[in-house]
Amino acid sequence: MSAKEVNELIRQAAEKAMRETDSEPEPGLTEEINWPIKVELHRGLAGAISNTTQIGYVNGAKGWLIYRGFNCFDLAEKSSYEETCHLLLHGRLPSSSELSIFNEQLKKYRRVPQPVLDVLRMIPTESSHPMSALATAVSMLGNLDANSEDISVENETEISLKLISQMATLAGAIGRIRQGKEPLTPNPELSHAANFFYMLSGTVPDEMNERIMDVSLILHADHGMNASTFTTMVVNSSLSDMYSSVVGGISSLKGPLHGGANQQVVLNLREIGSVENVDSWYQKKRAAKEKVMGFGHRVYKAYDPRARIFGPIAKLMAEKSAENKTIYEIAAKLEEVVVSELGQERKIFPNVDFYSGIIYKAMGIDTDMFTPIFAVSRIAGWTARALEYLADNRLFRPRAVYTGPIKIDYKPIEDR
Ligand SMILES: CC(C)(COP(=O)(O)OP(=O)(O)OC[C@H]1O[C@@H](n2cnc3c(N)ncnc32)[C@H](O)[C@@H]1OP(=O)(O)O)[C@@H](O)C(=O)NCCC(=O)NCCS
Repeated sequence: MSAKEVNELIRQAAEKAMRETDSEPEPGLTEEINWPIKVELHRGLAGAISNTTQIGYVNGAKGWLIYRGFNCFDLAEKSSYEETCHLLLHGRLPSSSELSIFNEQLKKYRRVPQPVLDVLRMIPTESSHPMSALATAVSMLGNLDANSEDISVENETEISLKLISQMATLAGAIGRIRQGKEPLTPNPELSHAANFFYMLSGTVPDEMNERIMDVSLILHADHGMNASTFTTMVVNSSLSDMYSSVVGGISSLKGPLHGGANQQVVLNLREIGSVENVDSWYQKKRAAKEKVMGFGHRVYKAYDPRARIFGPIAKLMAEKSAENKTIYEIAAKLEEVVVSELGQERKIFPNVDFYSGIIYKAMGIDTDMFTPIFAVSRIAGWTARALEYLADNRLFRPRAVYTGPIKIDYKPIEDR
């Protein structure tokens, strides 16, 4: 199977999406804002507006994902992760000479300082989650960078490039160490996606695996004011340094309601075990009022466009082994069952995490490394949005509604 076939699948997914969604923007969410504005507040800040941006747009009702005007289907089919990072950070697609310079900059930063690898080796793999190790590693990078406290946009942009490059090296090293192996030296001959695959698995990917990893990195690169992006921006808005801000983003992404879901999906599919068990497994979940991982989204009330791409790719990957095929068939059945009950009425559809884990699994990647792959990609959106906001910074500082008592007399400890 070739990279061309993967691109063809993406094109077909795009055509299907076009047929099913029309082209109306959301007036309230695609216009200049005159502050202050009135918004309704819901729990979890649902629907709240935090800032304006030119970086990316998610239209949840239509199922659109747009980076700086380009729809995700075009970028997934025709672009590369490096080009997408240039787009997000610098606001436009690069010319070929700009792309060569950008690639060289990223390659120059791939190696991480030795003390960071030493720290990673000290982390006990049995008790630690790889996302916690990743946060420690990025914090250590900051401690070692003599310029980390220079928070000028220029220096923070350079640090962002470094972090985009090094997140892949760190995730690769963590994956290897967790398997009791030595971290690998980055290979400057390879693209970002291929080098990441190599550092994680020890094997240079074939054309198809490189393309699929690249597509995955492109599709996870940015996604509105999701929890980890907002966390990164909140930390950065206090004029903290970019490393500390990104540590915040990693910590937020770790949770199963956010980036940790794809790992859970694969564990659930394994637990289900066979297509015949899907119905009863789902009914038990519903009876226990538990959510099904990989479904639902705060913003998308339509089919997640990333899942539109990952679904067919997961099917393609399923052909690789009998085990992959079974996992895919269970997933496809689970989608059918969940969507038939919750799709029409509750607008609950598969999200990006439903099929991504199946793809990584078919690539031979360990389940606990799925969320770090998300971080290797999302670092682009975190830093691009933090930099955009930094240029016209104002500290994020909402308020809470206090519901406790106001006036209680203080009693000495012996009288309580
Ligand atoms: C993503 C997510 C956190 C969004 O949450 P949210 O906007 O806060 O929505 P809520 O959790 O309040 O859910 C709203 C309703 O839909 C239901 N719902 C949401 N996701 C569901 C799911 N995956 N399975 C079953 N029901 C779900 C909730 O039970 C709730 O029902 P209720 O109104 O009867 O109580 C949520 O859909 C979820 O937990 N999904 C599973 C985890 C996941 O896949 N995360 C990756 C996101 S990319």
